[in-house]
Amino acid sequence: MNQKIKDIQPSILYYGTPVILLSTLNEDGSTNLSPLSSSWALGDCIVLGVSTGGKAFENMQRQKQCVINVPDPSLWRHVEKLASFTGKQPVPEEKKRLGFKYLKEKFAASGLTPAASHSVNPDRITECPIQVEAEAANIRIPEHSPFFAVIETKVLHVHAHERIIKGENHIDPEKWSPLIYNFRHYFGLGSELGKTFRA
Ligand SMILES: Cc1cc2nc3c(=O)[nH]c(=O)nc-3n(C[C@H](O)[C@H](O)[C@H](O)COP(=O)(O)O)c2cc1C
Repeated sequence: MNQKIKDIQPSILYYGTPVILLSTLNEDGSTNLSPLSSSWALGDCIVLGVSTGGKAFENMQRQKQCVINVPDPSLWRHVEKLASFTGKQPVPEEKKRLGFKYLKEKFAASGLTPAASHSVNPDRITECPIQVEAEAANIRIPEHSPFFAVIETKVLHVHAHERIIKGENHIDPEKWSPLIYNFRHYFGLGSELGKTFRA
């Protein structure tokens, strides 16, 4: 393929990862919800990229538990309802400059429904087809950037909507589809292209 290539300096590099809604526990026992797109999963480890200026980071440092709720494309408007808010008060200057406002009642604002978790204190989100209860095993701030933390979590408990389960312990990729954050725009997946030899 003869493709012309150009050097660029993009202001963001969000090249298309699933959206998650991270539940963390506030000081008063209520649950904060934070939309994130920086995560990856391998075995029972899910690694999160979390801004150090937000409430999710503050809560994880103090309480070290979370639920990684994974919405499907039908829930994008609910996610977006949370996008301009932070659970942090006072709102940090940088967030204020970007137009963020303080909001504590994230469930009410998003129109999503809380459900008690089994192994952790923050609530799960009923409407999210995959809900992963986890604990922080390691929280690290990279030397080259104080603005976000790499949080390694250990999975404790996985819940899934019955309609996306195949057999006993598998998610059916024909029935499940993540919500993708693609350079600040929401997308669903296209149709299947094929499968790997281990599928
Ligand atoms: C779809 C989407 C994806 C986002 N991804 C991330 C992310 O990966 N990491 C992060 O720190 N913030 C991310 N943000 C920004 C946070 O949601 C935002 O900072 C929010 O105020 C966090 O809420 P909190 O301060 O109550 O934790 C994302 C926002 C949206 C809407």
